[in-house]
Amino acid sequence: MVVRGGTVVEAGWSGPADVVITGGRVTALAAPGTAPAAASVVDAAGHLVLPGGVDPHCHVGFTSGDFTSLDDYRQCTTAAVHGGTTTIVDFAIPRPGENPADAAHAQRAKAGEGLCDSALHACVVEWDDTVPDQLASLVADGIATVKMFTTYRGETMADEDTVLRTMKTLAALGGMVVIHCEADHIIGDAQRRCADAGRIGASHMADTRPGLAETASVAEILAIAESVDAPVYFVHQSTAEAVELVAAARRRGVRAYSEAVAHHLVLDDSAYAGDRPERFVCCPPLRPADQVRALGRHLFTGEVTTIGSDHCCYDTAQKESRSGDVRAMPNGLPGVETRLPVIFSEYVVRRGLPVTRFVELTAANPARTNGLYPRKGTLLPGADADLAIWDPTAEWQITAGDLHMATDYTPYEGMTVTGRPKTVLVGGRVVVDNGALTDPTPRGRHIKATPISTKHS
Ligand code: URP
Ligand code: ZN
Ligand code: ZN
Ligand code: ZN
Repeated sequence: MVVRGGTVVEAGWSGPADVVITGGRVTALAAPGTAPAAASVVDAAGHLVLPGGVDPHCHVGFTSGDFTSLDDYRQCTTAAVHGGTTTIVDFAIPRPGENPADAAHAQRAKAGEGLCDSALHACVVEWDDTVPDQLASLVADGIATVKMFTTYRGETMADEDTVLRTMKTLAALGGMVVIHCEADHIIGDAQRRCADAGRIGASHMADTRPGLAETASVAEILAIAESVDAPVYFVHQSTAEAVELVAAARRRGVRAYSEAVAHHLVLDDSAYAGDRPERFVCCPPLRPADQVRALGRHLFTGEVTTIGSDHCCYDTAQKESRSGDVRAMPNGLPGVETRLPVIFSEYVVRRGLPVTRFVELTAANPARTNGLYPRKGTLLPGADADLAIWDPTAEWQITAGDLHMATDYTPYEGMTVTGRPKTVLVGGRVVVDNGALTDPTPRGRHIKATPISTKHS
């Protein structure tokens, strides 16, 4: 197969090239018109040819508290490929009493239901003498990243000692902790104050999880990582201050990385003043507009490493069922399908982010920080032939009814965006063409992480 006539965009360069595909892999990037005759030609004239997106933060069928998000691998990856994402990284969060390795093995077994490939973050909540052996076998099995939380007390929160031991053990194995940082004691106090004032419903979400809780926790976790010389990746950083702490640590030699997620880069806390505040309840919460702009500026400077979705597919009924008390609500927003279009539109088209940087943030760096590069996140020869033929000028309006996520709403309802995938290939097969699913056969594979490369920018 040849994808002909497009402009290939990689993290470091872009230019006209024909993509030659054999046996599901890219075998050459040929000067336009020089590719050998092929059985099948896909026309990319006038379009960008991007490595398929790699979503480093995607919860599939995620259970937290009383709620389980509504998708399975087939549904989540169907939505992903419609949005140009061809690899998702999901989380195996142990249920109470379950150990991290069992949780990871159970979740990994679902990869085959996917329309595209997936990888996994394991999760450690509590330290015990069996954890080092579990981590060693997980890394040997290709699960090299481990999610930890400094919040959600009584559920998935880990104490500092557990974080330190897990980081140190994983670093020696070539793995990395990926961590949700919000100081739970500061949040607990803010929630009590809000509740005492009768202001604990969804419209007060932002007041219950202040930015200070995030910076306090990031500083603590950076100190732990530095003390044991371990790499660390901060998920869904929602403020410029948090990103700047990580960037400063990186300048002193700490292998520390920042993930931003699409909704924190595009939406702001005015959503909580609207008539559907529960639809925007996520952790960390949406921040004030000036803070959103400050966070967005860090995409241009190299300080943010990756952009994820933090996809969590709850529907309106789940969101509304506890909207009077954010402490009992399901947290998280659906976004695996909209991540690439909203970031392309808001940052590449409207604010001039180089499209090479877009690819770096949404595909190449997520592949690197998850040990999936250069199999994923690039179109260099040898990579899996996962790619999005992208129409950079198509204007369209986002509406939930046109999307494929297993929910009835999108936080971007009514937003007009520019740019969308026209054709999406997974392993050299056309799975989406002109917005329609052309190959619904589930052929997803669990992709094993190689030791995490922490040498990139
Ligand atoms: O609100 C969020 N982010 N829910 C998903 C779980 C998490 O903390 O990432
Ligand atoms: Zn989180
Ligand atoms: Zn309030
Ligand atoms: Zn998450």
